Amino acid sequence: MTQSIEATSAPGGAAEGGEEQYYRGLGSLNVEPLWRNTDPRLLPTEPRSQAVPYVWRYADVRRELMTAGRLISAEEAERRVLMLINPGLAPEVETANNLYAGIQLVLPGEIAPMHKHAAAAFRFVIEGTGAYTAVNGERAHMHPGDIVLTPSWAWHDHGNFTDEPVVWMDGLDLPLINKLESNFFVDGPEQAQEQLRSADSTERLYAASRLNPAWKTWDKPYSPLINYPWSVTEQLLKSALDEWVGSPTDGVIFEFTNPESGGPIMPTMGAYIQALPAKMHTEAHQHTSSAIYHVVRGRGQTIVDGEVLDWSQHDTFTVPGWSVHEHINTENEPAVLFSHTDIPVLKALGFYQERACVRQA
Ligand SMILES: [Fe+2]
Ligand SMILES: [Fe+2]
Repeated sequence: MTQSIEATSAPGGAAEGGEEQYYRGLGSLNVEPLWRNTDPRLLPTEPRSQAVPYVWRYADVRRELMTAGRLISAEEAERRVLMLINPGLAPEVETANNLYAGIQLVLPGEIAPMHKHAAAAFRFVIEGTGAYTAVNGERAHMHPGDIVLTPSWAWHDHGNFTDEPVVWMDGLDLPLINKLESNFFVDGPEQAQEQLRSADSTERLYAASRLNPAWKTWDKPYSPLINYPWSVTEQLLKSALDEWVGSPTDGVIFEFTNPESGGPIMPTMGAYIQALPAKMHTEAHQHTSSAIYHVVRGRGQTIVDGEVLDWSQHDTFTVPGWSVHEHINTENEPAVLFSHTDIPVLKALGFYQERACVRQA
C-alpha cells in the first residue's frame, strides 16, 4: 500500500516548520540531502588528487636520519625510518594516494626482528652493501640499486652485519590497505627466522629471464623472486640505451615483473626502472595512477601541473594521480629513475586511464 507524502512527514519537518527546520532536523538523523551537496570531490568531472607534487631532498633526509642514528637505540632500529608525508594528505601517513615511502637507516650490528603483516613492502637500497633481508627462509644480500620484496604475510627480518650504515627506501601499500581496513601485524616467534635455503637462492634460480624452474609450484599472488639485483638492472639499461629511445613519455622504461605470471611484482604495487637519455624532454601525459619516484642517478626536472620539481641523485618525489607531467633530463648523461605505483590495483578494478597532454614547457 502506498502512503501519502503528508502521512510520512515527521513532526517538525518541512510540512510544519519550513525548509530550514527540515534541513536542521536531518542532521540529527545522520543523513544529508544530496541535492544540496556542494563538495566537488563527491562526483568530480575528472579525478583531482588531494596529494600535491613534492620533492624530499636526500641531503636533508640523510642528515636527519644520521642524527636519528645517534638518538634511536639498536632495539628500535626497525623503526628508525623517516616517513615521507605528502603535505596535501597530512596528517595521514601517505606519500601518494594509496602509496607510502620512508627512508630507513640500519647501523652496523643492528637487526630488525622477524615479523609479518598484511601490507606488502619492498626495499630499494640507496647506500651500503651486504646487509640482508630474510624472506620465507631465504636471506637476500642487498646492494645499492637492488629491489628486495617482503610481500603480504611473508615473514621477514633484516640484519646489517657489515661495517657500514645501510640506507634504503621502504615502499608499502599501507594507505590502501588501511583504507580497506584489512591490515594485520604479527611479531615472529624468533628474532631471526630459520634459513631454509642458501642465501640469494631465488636470485640465482630466476637469473636467466624467460627461463623459469618448471618443477617449482607457486600459488602466491606475488613474485617468488626476493631480490631484483642492480647488477642485472644496470646492464639491461645500458644495453637498451645503446639501441632504443623508449617511450615518448618515459624514455627507456622497464617494469619489474613476477617471473611466474608475467604480471606486477605484487597485486597492490608495480615497480619500474627507467633511463631518460641525455637531454631528453619527454612528452606530457596524465594517468589515474599515482607514482613515487626515487632518483637513482642523474639530475633533472619533472613538471607536474605546471609546478617544476628539480631533482638530483637519491631525492624522492611524487607525482599525484591524473596530474599532467613530463620529465626533463637536464644533463648530458642518462638519468635513472626508480618508481613504484598503484597501477596493478587500478588495472585490476578497471579504473586505469591514461591520456596524452600538451607539453607545459
Ligand atoms: Fe615489515
Ligand atoms: Fe607518467
